[in-house]
Amino acid sequence: KIYVNTKKEMFPVAEDLYGLFFEDINRAGDGGLYPEMIRNRSFEDSLVPAGCTTDEKQLIYINRGGWSGGFNHGEGMDDWAAAVPFTSIPGWYSENAVINLDKSDTLNDNRECSMKVEFEAGGKIWNIGYSGVPVKSGAEYNLYLFYKANKVCNLTVSLESEQGVVHGSDTKEILPDGSWQRLDYKLKANADDFKGRVVFKVDEPCEINFGFTSLMPEDTYMGHGLRKDLVEMLKNLHPKFMRFPGGCVVEGLSKETAMRFSDTIGPVWQRPSHQLMWHYRTTNGLGFHEYLQLCEDLNMEPMYVCNCGMSCQARNGEVFDMEETNNLVQDALNALEYALGAVDTEFGAMRAAAGHPEPFAMKYVEIGNENFGPEYNKRYEIFYKALKEAYPDIIYISNSHTEQENLPTEYVDEHYYNGPEYFLENDTKFDDYDREGPKIFIGEYAVNGGNTIASMECALAEAVFLTGIEKNQDIVKLSAYAPLFQNADYTTWKPNLIVFDNHQVYGIPSYHAIAMMAEYRGKTVIETSADVERRPPVYKGVPGVMCEKPGMQMKNARINGKAVDISRTVYGSFVKEDDIYTMKRGGNQHSFVGKSDTWNRAFEKFIRGHRWPGQSDERDFMWATFGTE
Ligand code: AHR
Repeated sequence: KIYVNTKKEMFPVAEDLYGLFFEDINRAGDGGLYPEMIRNRSFEDSLVPAGCTTDEKQLIYINRGGWSGGFNHGEGMDDWAAAVPFTSIPGWYSENAVINLDKSDTLNDNRECSMKVEFEAGGKIWNIGYSGVPVKSGAEYNLYLFYKANKVCNLTVSLESEQGVVHGSDTKEILPDGSWQRLDYKLKANADDFKGRVVFKVDEPCEINFGFTSLMPEDTYMGHGLRKDLVEMLKNLHPKFMRFPGGCVVEGLSKETAMRFSDTIGPVWQRPSHQLMWHYRTTNGLGFHEYLQLCEDLNMEPMYVCNCGMSCQARNGEVFDMEETNNLVQDALNALEYALGAVDTEFGAMRAAAGHPEPFAMKYVEIGNENFGPEYNKRYEIFYKALKEAYPDIIYISNSHTEQENLPTEYVDEHYYNGPEYFLENDTKFDDYDREGPKIFIGEYAVNGGNTIASMECALAEAVFLTGIEKNQDIVKLSAYAPLFQNADYTTWKPNLIVFDNHQVYGIPSYHAIAMMAEYRGKTVIETSADVERRPPVYKGVPGVMCEKPGMQMKNARINGKAVDISRTVYGSFVKEDDIYTMKRGGNQHSFVGKSDTWNRAFEKFIRGHRWPGQSDERDFMWATFGTE
């Protein structure tokens, strides 16, 4: 039986409970939500940034060969070099023309190279886009390029099928005057073709340096440059906020690859490109302004995540020195000025120049992503003080339970990736959270692990967990599934809420469950209880290991009363099958299973056996989510 006491009003619903978490993973940005049709439009995709590990270099190498399968962070990729043909300009091909990267002549100081093309008579180059250049009959496309040439000639740009059938073209005259010039083309397609390409042809031999190129559909959501069908999918989730731009991409693999607001604003061809933690480059066309515009268009509260002076602790875990950290504090202050400042401030003026004189909103700011520990606490305090003083009305979110260090803590971001059994059994998880403590933001959650395939079972388990959040929305204020998008042709991580290719899109079952729960919100939470027999839990903790809240650093952990130094832990869950205890790590990119006949031995095997690439120390684990038995 379920008892509902309509007379006992507990508390009002949390206005912003259901939101989005956008991160550029699985090529969700360029070629996805940001519908650039030219792959590697700045020619920089093959450049390896400083600070890269060997694993990461392998992945970049594989990616520049155009490989589109799932990545597993370098494990088991011994044959990677042999398996993938190397190309220094991924996405671009030529016939009767020689193409090369030219680092000596670039469009501006933020560009690392241009593409030099020596065309013979009748020569051509083409780009294959993201698994094809998709065109629709009757639709219009805008192409622009920056060039330098050695002589006058005609440059024809055409949308073509793989077999060379022309769907639409436009010709412009190239006028060499020694400086970079811009050409704009308008292309109209006369056929549907989702596997096409964009071709550049000259009428006589010449040399052209291309500094930057772009091809976008004319028709975008509210004319603001984002892919219509994908934004509609977001809208149908009834989201109240959006967390952006990450995720691990905010942290980066190193100082050099950490996210900085300042790289993501201004004319797109002037924005530096960025090697993302998910093994490909973005040209940052989808930047701070574009995220804020999307929030405004869908009536969502923006939640900006800034780097806190540390790179991804699950990978290299680089801690930046205080000078660099202070630069990042300034970068975050600049971002907030861009969003909220008057037009006579430096960054407010840049916002106005980009077409938005009125301030945007900015309700939430998160300091770091999945960072924790003493170095995090030190940096969190510095960021918190500086940002709070300048923008006291913003709600600040910490990555771990910093209140335990007596730091000012408003909201804490907790992440949950685990098997379905974990979600089914944790609908009561927040019942006993301290009501005097910080508010909780479930910033990332999903049933995943092993080879999880999006299914009704996953959706149901998550929905059960969400009922626990709904019942506790006096303390749990925000939630978001992760990750949000998956380009089916470039998958790094599974499952993801929305799957697309270059012309189609669908939501996994979890999408439909969340959309339903987010649509029917009510006003007040009333008293309910259920008279049901609960299934005996299969998710169990490790006896003797001290359990703390997820997202926290585990301190004073013990196995069999013996102290273990777990400065990092992993999500994981125990299952007992045929008298064998198995510990399975949640998350699909590193699966390791520890099997044994006792809990303790399974746990010990698990932590001994698990390694992040490049790490060899038993202490290298992340996030404890061990429940109690
Ligand atoms: O959602 C995918 C990744 O999972 C996010 O980048 C990170 O925050 C988490 O580890």
